[in-house]
Amino acid sequence: MVIQTILQALSFIFPAYVANASPVVLGGGTPMDGGKNFVDGKRILGDGKTIRGTVLGFLVGSFAGFIQIFVWEQPMIQSLSQKTIGWAHSPWGWEVPVFLSLGALLGDIFASFLKRRIGYKRGMPTPGLDQLDFLVGAILLASIFWFPPFRIIITLLVLTPLLHLGLNMVAYRLGFKSEPY
Ligand code: CTP
Ligand code: MG
Repeated sequence: MVIQTILQALSFIFPAYVANASPVVLGGGTPMDGGKNFVDGKRILGDGKTIRGTVLGFLVGSFAGFIQIFVWEQPMIQSLSQKTIGWAHSPWGWEVPVFLSLGALLGDIFASFLKRRIGYKRGMPTPGLDQLDFLVGAILLASIFWFPPFRIIITLLVLTPLLHLGLNMVAYRLGFKSEPY
């Protein structure tokens, strides 16, 4: 069932979404690269990747995943979950939210590294990369512990860019982002 696959996909990727979105609100301050340039004379990562955003994104994303697993273990939730999502229990352990969050941040940081190398300034939109960098990083690292069914990966590749654009529009309207993408 399509709805069930979408719900499974979203429950899997939830911590990565939180890890990717929370730095927009909680980030700022000292950039991770310390303001330094790479050998090509351009910034290593740029001012959009901060220490606070990365640390808090990792902690908040992991914590969100722990809460999710905890709630999932409650007997009242399990029967409801079985009926809707098709999984009574969390199919993964605590490592998955930790590695999803870490992978999401690393994927996004790696994309910034690439963007600086090709000369794109901080915040310059890079369609495709901006929506999928964190997703690919998250799935890659989390798959060490739990490899999602293929249908979930496909669903996430389609759904994530749409949700990303929608949420960035909301963040822009609320004043957290300077561009609506
Ligand atoms: N952010 C952060 N630390 C991170 C990731 C994001 O502090 N590791 C914050 C920054 O304030 C950043 C905002 O979240 O400006 C939006 O993130 P993103 O779109 O990834 O950064 P950009 O500013 O667009 O920079 P880049 O061009 O490098 O992607
Ligand atoms: Mg950006």
